Amino acid sequence: MPLIIANWKMNPATLTEAKDLFLQIKKVSIKNRKSTVVVCPPFLFIESLRKFTAPKISLGAQDVFWELEGAYTGEISPLQLYESGARYVIVGHYERRTRITLNETDEVINKKLKASLKAGLKPILCVGESKRDEAGNFLHFIKRQLELDLAGVKKTDLKNLIIAYEPIWTVGRDAKRKALPEECREIVVFIKKVLADMFGRNAMEKVQIIYGGSVDSKNARDYLTTGSAQGLLVGRESLRPKEFNEILKSI
Ligand code: 13P
Repeated sequence: MPLIIANWKMNPATLTEAKDLFLQIKKVSIKNRKSTVVVCPPFLFIESLRKFTAPKISLGAQDVFWELEGAYTGEISPLQLYESGARYVIVGHYERRTRITLNETDEVINKKLKASLKAGLKPILCVGESKRDEAGNFLHFIKRQLELDLAGVKKTDLKNLIIAYEPIWTVGRDAKRKALPEECREIVVFIKKVLADMFGRNAMEKVQIIYGGSVDSKNARDYLTTGSAQGLLVGRESLRPKEFNEILKSI
């Protein structure tokens, strides 16, 4: 069943707006038998939205710290996220890797991912290249990200892992263009190959591979069919309930 993830990023400004948005999405989510929805709001809203969750719509966070507890001023642990109602967590989003110059390294992302699994959260690991090149160097880049970010992850944990392929050149308002479903498919196959080499074929098949980057109601279905993605990670359009619900309906 496709996993449709709403990444609200640093929006909306108030809890009232967040509740309103969540409830509008929920209406369609619970009617839609063809997908499971995960809403990732800013940390502060997770606990308050928890009471509105249902089997078809749950909550995730956009980031996490890599230790379970301790003297880490300002950080939020995976255990606290689970306790507040989150069941998923986005790890290694490109905006944290580079865009807002947080410079999160693969080593840090790897620690966050393993700590999340330990706390019972399902990590959504984002990978993707900033640009493509004829020589195919971008494939080495994605492979390297996967190898570093998943180092030391146990095979038995792969059933709880989601990998989001988000080519940076397709994300947000600055996107150069949208990815073709065929381009998505190519990388889904490539990611499977890298995972199979790392963990074996059986373990690889447990991982859900999804697509993100300028997803809207016109292209959502194509990424899931031609593109072979098992879900979608939606940014801007997840803040427009009508449009997001059109995405759900199109599946
Ligand atoms: P957009 O859908 O706004 O391009 O954002 C994608 C994204 O970054 C989701 O995590």
